[in-house]
Amino acid sequence: MGDSLKVPTNLGFTAKDIRVAVQRRDVIIVIDVLRCCSTIVTALANAAEEIIPTRTVREARMLHKKHPELILAGERGGIKPHGFDCGNSPLEFTYQKVKGNRVVLTTTSGTKAIVLSKNAEYVFTGAFLNAEAIAKATVTVAEREETGISFITAGSDRCFSLEDFICAGAIARCLPSERAEHSDVVWAALLAFQQAHKSLYEIIRSGRHARRLKSLGFEEDVKFCCQLDVSQFVPFLKGDSIVLFARA
Ligand code: MLT
Repeated sequence: MGDSLKVPTNLGFTAKDIRVAVQRRDVIIVIDVLRCCSTIVTALANAAEEIIPTRTVREARMLHKKHPELILAGERGGIKPHGFDCGNSPLEFTYQKVKGNRVVLTTTSGTKAIVLSKNAEYVFTGAFLNAEAIAKATVTVAEREETGISFITAGSDRCFSLEDFICAGAIARCLPSERAEHSDVVWAALLAFQQAHKSLYEIIRSGRHARRLKSLGFEEDVKFCCQLDVSQFVPFLKGDSIVLFARA
């Protein structure tokens, strides 16, 4: 296969990067390891019907008021807002709690990045938990659509996040060189993953956001989110809600 037929990959951090990726018609993978995208894949794996991401707490509350059967979930500053049913810990989204339920989720950075991406035709959400599954699904779609893949690393509080960058590398590792042409920044993420993968938890826990989560009592969440390739589930944004790609 000639280079021109390979899927080009890119990586961005900002709202402007998202706009550019949407204009290029790229397949978008939003990454927020701690914790939004890890929570989304866990909730869907535990049979939640759909996750509706919102940018603001107010939007989430309003939607919940209209549809009180929704599970109202999310965080600000890592903490569950007053009156919410769940926070943003993936460990809260058990089968018993979410099976057959619809969830409205609002988080500081992750759900914002997802909502900002929604003009793209294909938006997926990725984490370490489902890195390999996301790579396989997105490269197939990008080849079929003859377009690129853009990793959008959500970060935390508008800052670069170590764990999201390394996770982009974890996904890129599963995009074989005969099928994908990585940009320099994706190569850098891949090299960071190769350096980190043997002690992922030890490295991620030293990052800013993980330290903050630890100080709030969420160290177990960080451990959980650092598991690599343990889930085959592929979350996909369909209209206003995130569902499993297989069912989309
Ligand atoms: C976010 O979207 O900013 C994160 O998921 C925050 C968190 O760890 O709860």
